[in-house]
Amino acid sequence: MMQFQRVADEIRRAIEQGRWHVGEALPSERKTAEEFGVSRSTVRRAWEELQSLGYVHWTAASAPIVVNIPLRPVPINPSLIGKDLPYRPSSTFLSDLMSAASSSARYNFEIGMPDPDLLPIHELQEIVRDLLSQHVREVFSYSPTQGIARVRQALSEEYLSRRGVAADPDNILITSGSLQGLDYVTSLLSRAGDYIVTESPTFAGALQIFASHGAQVLAVPMDEEGIRVEPLAQALAQHPVRMIYVQTFFHNPTSTVMSLARRQAVLALSQKYQVPIVEDDAYGFLATANPQPLYALAPGDAPVIYLNTLSKLLAPGLRVGMVVAPRDIIQYLSQRKQLGDLHTGTVTQLLVEGWLRSGNVTQHIARAQTIYASRMRIASELIRRRGLFLFGHPTGGFYLFVQLPKHINAYALHDYAAQRDVLFAPGEAFGIGDRYRGWIRLCVSALGTTAIQNGMARFFRMLDTFSP
Ligand SMILES: Cc1ncc(COP(=O)(O)O)c(C=O)c1O
Repeated sequence: MMQFQRVADEIRRAIEQGRWHVGEALPSERKTAEEFGVSRSTVRRAWEELQSLGYVHWTAASAPIVVNIPLRPVPINPSLIGKDLPYRPSSTFLSDLMSAASSSARYNFEIGMPDPDLLPIHELQEIVRDLLSQHVREVFSYSPTQGIARVRQALSEEYLSRRGVAADPDNILITSGSLQGLDYVTSLLSRAGDYIVTESPTFAGALQIFASHGAQVLAVPMDEEGIRVEPLAQALAQHPVRMIYVQTFFHNPTSTVMSLARRQAVLALSQKYQVPIVEDDAYGFLATANPQPLYALAPGDAPVIYLNTLSKLLAPGLRVGMVVAPRDIIQYLSQRKQLGDLHTGTVTQLLVEGWLRSGNVTQHIARAQTIYASRMRIASELIRRRGLFLFGHPTGGFYLFVQLPKHINAYALHDYAAQRDVLFAPGEAFGIGDRYRGWIRLCVSALGTTAIQNGMARFFRMLDTFSP
């Protein structure tokens, strides 16, 4: 193989493995020549080759820009899929959870969603009626990729302001659920092989996203006040970390609230090491005392990107989430989104706007706070009385993270319980490797008091009768 072909081949492979994204420039001629130990004219021939293959656009004035990442044919044999990729397809945990959402199991502690009985059905019906009679053209039309301007305005004034997040509508991107926001933010901050810090345990969906980007996750242990400072400082000192992903309020799966002192320490470390924080505030609306997220506490120049969603407060099927960030970041994320789904559904955005402007949000939040806190109190008391180990002392939130007796395999118990009308999430998906193999997550938000009591009683009986 000629030298220029070898160079072109290696660069092509790096492009395919995601080292650079579309729109980014390759390293300069001089750097490339040094990296490969070849002459500059060889580099130029390699670039010509890449241009002729359609990977880059190159004018003699500067280094080539990546314009296309062609897909290579995927082998038909299913056992081969993944071997050839920079990462292996991660678990199907999230899609399994989506199946659990439509399960008819009587005691569904598996899926993390708001209580359907809290849905403001009459208000939503009225808003839909109004949209269909007064705004029908707009409702069924395309809308801007960044999100409809007046919906962003409503999110800023009626939702984010409640979290102390002062966001100009220009600094908001409406996403199709906050999961999409996290995916796009990860694609901005991290490349295959990069380090991302998370709490341990953490949201399984986030771990799946990080795995799909080929990131290496440094899972930092938590205690009752949130992510622990010393191991976090160590991780940041020892590795070139690209982002710190944290949930500050009613963390999934432990329902921990990060203490104010801890929030300040995390901010200070992110500033010291200049590592951006990606703050996921999906359950922040449940916060009463001391409610400021990192985004609100951070000094103006601190690198915090803030994610939120209406999935846990109103309804997950709407798929309305948001990213709040400086304008250039929002612009980059919008470019990603135009290739992903062009824009979040116009209908659901307008529905959310109508609800946010209805004047009933304060009351809805207050009800949700009271009801979920009471369910968590009842359920955690039952867990403790049974003598099972519960992570922390959650005072609200959706989830209880529980350690099973030593001999029990969570997956086997899951299947056994599912046949007996009780669903829960095995804990392994919330950590790296098998760290939480003996744990489970119980979600109590969507079950009434009696169902929680009966469902837990049935679950405890199963712990006695189940033999692995
Ligand atoms: C912490 C956290 N972030 C994000 C999400 C995803 O929410 P969305 O429905 O907005 O994509 C969830 C859902 O369980 C979650 O627990």
